Amino acid sequence: MKFFLDTAIVEDIKNAVQLGMCDGVTTNPTLIMKSGRDHMEVIKEISSIVDGPISVEGNGMTADEMIKEGKEFSTWGKNIVVKVPMTEEGLKAVRVLEKEGIKTNVTLVFSPSQALLAAKAGASYVSPFVGRLDDISHDGMFLVDEIKQIYSNYGYKTEIIVASIRHPLHVVEAAKAGADIATIPAKVLSLMWNHPLTDKGIQKFLEDSKKNEKH
Ligand code: E4P
Repeated sequence: MKFFLDTAIVEDIKNAVQLGMCDGVTTNPTLIMKSGRDHMEVIKEISSIVDGPISVEGNGMTADEMIKEGKEFSTWGKNIVVKVPMTEEGLKAVRVLEKEGIKTNVTLVFSPSQALLAAKAGASYVSPFVGRLDDISHDGMFLVDEIKQIYSNYGYKTEIIVASIRHPLHVVEAAKAGADIATIPAKVLSLMWNHPLTDKGIQKFLEDSKKNEKH
């Protein structure tokens, strides 16, 4: 399973790279805003740190606008993936960009029919937003199961990025569902290694090892 970092904070990305936990990065306009940095400048920096795919999102609404933006983004680094919203215009843009060798990530996906269309359009990645579905009392992870089943039925190559992750269990459930990728906020990644019994165990072993020194 691949782990992407869902952030535009360079320090968090560097830390995850050091841990070997960063196979790629996803960004969106909200995450860029939170970084407080210039869009192009921060994406170029991230692209120089991470070898894997970096998803970049613009604000075009028509296919032509999305294609123009996508072509521009693809010059920002060797590993840029263009995020395209799940709309009719977005699907048109996916076909053109993929034909031109620019990888796309269809974002804001909330239903299996949307995911099926993304795969048929030839998207490299699809991003079901599990947390936002959970927020409105729908089972976000059930959507991932459905997409996985549909893609395996027909051998679609589109990779499933489980997005809008809110807690470590989402990552575990994504892994159990066989999702290709989980895109994880830095805070959630750090929660994955924490366990009170680990801390308690370390403390006890330290105390006992000090006692051993006295013998
Ligand atoms: C990633 O591609 C998505 O943009 C991101 O996971 C959305 O997360 P949110 O629902 O917490 O904003």
